[in-house]
Amino acid sequence: MLKSHSCGELSKKDVGAKVTLAGWVDRRRDHGGLIFIDLRDREGIVQVVFNPETAKLCHEIASEMRNEYVVRVSGEVALRPQGTENPKLPTGDVEVIAHNTDILNPSKTPPFYINEDIEVEESLRLKYRYLDLRRTRMKENLLLRHRVVKFMRDFLDAKGFIEVETPILIKSTPEGARDYLVPSRLYPGKFYALPQSPQQLKQLLMVAGVEKYFQIARCFRDEDTRADRQPEFTQLDLEMSFVEEEDILNLLEELFTSLVEIIKPEMRVIKPFPRLTYAEAMEHYGTDKPDLRFGLELGDLTDIVAQSDFSIFRSAIADGGKVKGICAPGCGTYTRSQLDELNKLVQSLGAEGLVTISLGTAGGNLNALTIEMVKSVAARFLTLDQIKQMAERLGAKTGDLLLIVAGNPKLVDMTLSELRQEMGHRLKLADPNLFVFAFIQNFPLLRWDDETGRWESEHHPFTAPWDEDVPLLDTTPEKVHGKHYDVICNGYEIGGGSLRIHTSELQRKIFKLLGYNDEEVEERFGHMLEAFQYGAPPHGGIALGLDRIVMLLAGEETIREVIAFPKNQSAADLTFDAPSPVTEEQLAELHLRLRNE
Ligand code: AMO
Repeated sequence: MLKSHSCGELSKKDVGAKVTLAGWVDRRRDHGGLIFIDLRDREGIVQVVFNPETAKLCHEIASEMRNEYVVRVSGEVALRPQGTENPKLPTGDVEVIAHNTDILNPSKTPPFYINEDIEVEESLRLKYRYLDLRRTRMKENLLLRHRVVKFMRDFLDAKGFIEVETPILIKSTPEGARDYLVPSRLYPGKFYALPQSPQQLKQLLMVAGVEKYFQIARCFRDEDTRADRQPEFTQLDLEMSFVEEEDILNLLEELFTSLVEIIKPEMRVIKPFPRLTYAEAMEHYGTDKPDLRFGLELGDLTDIVAQSDFSIFRSAIADGGKVKGICAPGCGTYTRSQLDELNKLVQSLGAEGLVTISLGTAGGNLNALTIEMVKSVAARFLTLDQIKQMAERLGAKTGDLLLIVAGNPKLVDMTLSELRQEMGHRLKLADPNLFVFAFIQNFPLLRWDDETGRWESEHHPFTAPWDEDVPLLDTTPEKVHGKHYDVICNGYEIGGGSLRIHTSELQRKIFKLLGYNDEEVEERFGHMLEAFQYGAPPHGGIALGLDRIVMLLAGEETIREVIAFPKNQSAADLTFDAPSPVTEEQLAELHLRLRNE
């Protein structure tokens, strides 16, 4: 090794030791006489002193050093002179008196500061990701991710799971997104698809008798990128044979509880994990991944205002819509511009608008509320009794603000769930030291897609229907429940799984319902149907979004911060500048010609 110690490990116990260090110049201070270098490596920073009196040549070399130069230093660890200790630095009691040094490689001036945690434009960070990753915060995120993955591997190993790798070049494994395709050189006109998940492969491993499988698996989905979505992302994927839903949920509860205990002991977790049905989640929160760290539940006001004179409510209800709302505690004094802002947010989500009702000033009794105390454009069209009933249903007091949206039920739920999140954020209702993991269950198996005019799987086509609902597949598919469960945490969906279909008859029936004809079923899924005829055990599993879990543990806002080389928001890799054109020869080899569009 070019070094005997790492910079970050030195402390008082090393005083007097002769050490050789190698790393990057984090900062250089030239005091005319002495030169101080903060030398940084992966483990931390230590101060090195170059004295012209005792080590002249060494001092001359140090005067050439600049930020981010790679240097090596040999010297002796000494206590810092009294009064010059740096309590902010773990090595702040000591310094290294340099006897020998050399510059291993100079550096151009970096495009942004490595040694300061300041905001840098993301595209620049991604272009120079190797420099960005030198910064403390990013280095810590990489380390955290490593520890999380190591924890998961050890945890599952101890439970008897084995890790199996599955192919990346394969055939379409649908999870509801577009496939990434890879043209084949050897088979003109044919393509591999990159897996959207190892779903079918892990099921085939169950048929193979593996019984307990897991994998840190890369998945590929060509869909719009978001803060919590990448075209290429990682799952902790797992599958078990001979299990029931309860076995899998218990395993997950233990996994997440121990993960937080070991990796983030300062965070609190609620146990047992709350469980909500899909219908309850939608009714109370308008989303199947609510942040359960705070209340602000949605209330359905449709029955209260159905007979009101307020045309916005009446016409929405007449069109088959709903009127729902939330109560923002203590916000009755919101100004016109604050209310306008919320209205804009609601409109940007596609709703017609937001009806706000301020319930006077705080401290009064709701019973003593008069119509004069109420501020709202709707006040003239509502009776005091209707307003009081709405306030009661939303759990409001005087001084609170009712936020109400009317329209198409799905749109109302989606809008209010976003508004709830926004108000929770503004009012700082979510405890930053709390993780609320929860299970969402009882999903519908299928959903009708108006655009394609077909049934789509709510999860994926391999999810088993409830046994008692199987007859409904022929009559009322919308009423069939799936054996599907999601894990959510603090407003994010961090996992989804199910018990699977394991007979070819039922699997074929589902493919048919999804609109595939016999030929398509054979062509796309014949291998699964055949496998199920060779003694497929009952099985089920789940996949956890590793990137999202690490993001939550790291307290970051996007998964890009916890992926070493992520794509940007437009799915481009800025470090490599990918995707990029290829040569005519490469295209010809792949039997491809580009269309002129
Ligand atoms: P699902 O599609 O729900 O299930 O994915 C599982 C989890 O993966 C994460 N996730 C993503 N993370 C980042 N970027 C993306 N584009 C992205 N898409 C999904 C989410 C999600 O909960 N094969 C099934 C699992 C199973 O049935 O066992 C599957 O992939 O956290």
